[in-house]
Amino acid sequence: MNKQISAIMSLESIIDTFRLAIYFILTIGVLLVSFFPEGWLLFFYLNTEPELLHCLLAPLYFFIAYCITVIFYGVIHSQLVVRLTLPYRIKPGNYPHHSSKGRLIAIRLTADGIFKSMIKVFTFLPFVWGIFLFPYLMRLYGLKCGKNVHIATNTWIDCPLVEIGDNSFIGWNSVLSGHANENRQFVIEPLKVGKNCTIGSYCVVGPGVEVGDNTMLGIMSGWKKGTKVPPNGVWVGAPAKRIKDRHLKNMEPK
Ligand SMILES: CC(C)(COP(=O)(O)OP(=O)(O)OC[C@H]1O[C@@H](n2cnc3c(N)ncnc32)[C@H](O)[C@@H]1OP(=O)(O)O)[C@@H](O)C(=O)NCCC(=O)NCCS
Repeated sequence: MNKQISAIMSLESIIDTFRLAIYFILTIGVLLVSFFPEGWLLFFYLNTEPELLHCLLAPLYFFIAYCITVIFYGVIHSQLVVRLTLPYRIKPGNYPHHSSKGRLIAIRLTADGIFKSMIKVFTFLPFVWGIFLFPYLMRLYGLKCGKNVHIATNTWIDCPLVEIGDNSFIGWNSVLSGHANENRQFVIEPLKVGKNCTIGSYCVVGPGVEVGDNTMLGIMSGWKKGTKVPPNGVWVGAPAKRIKDRHLKNMEPK
């Protein structure tokens, strides 16, 4: 019986390793293909007589080509490569780092990395553009978020494990983590931020945290793993303590 179990487990780990290999190969392939528009433009400029109009419009052409690259890469990579080879949603539980499932999860949690870096270049004014575009683009990688959500570009969010309610704001350099690394294993617990919440800059919110509606977390503050935060409060510190009530009037945009 034990032999059968270990045979099944080793077969599973071989399949997982195969999935990872396919993931890396497909990712590099999609990355290369998505830069074709820039390659084509370069080819065009190197093989034609320089004309003033085309030289003046070159930055615009390359910007449009880069937009196509980012959208193409994001859609194909998230919807095809990630869905085909990695677990798109991660089930809560404990996964040892060295196990094949642990490796799959580590790669899944960082799968949006290249796309994020591309957006940061694309939104060359990240603090202005990024905030508005970011939530929509991160949905491709599994982030569940409501309407009017603003997320600063330079944040770390475990997309497949995080849910953010309507009208919430996630500040610069904050971390919403649906995983913890404990005793050489990934502890996976989804994280939920309610409606009308503001998470300040440089905050850390751990796995399993459930933030009630209308909550504010001050700068450089955090909630530890599994905290259930009641609604309508202002919280500061690490671990955060409630300092006062928060009363919000009509949050609907005019
Ligand atoms: C939490 C916050 C809203 C509190 O502002 P406030 O209502 O004006 O409250 P106060 O500044 O009077 O602070 C009340 C108490 O909390 C403490 N406090 C406030 N912010 C704190 C923080 N981030 N960490 C620890 N303590 C904090 C104050 O020292 C004060 O303590 P005291 O009464 O012992 O002196 C504000 O400090 C904050 O962090 N805003 C977030 C801004 C932000 O990140 N925006 C996003 C940008 S991308």
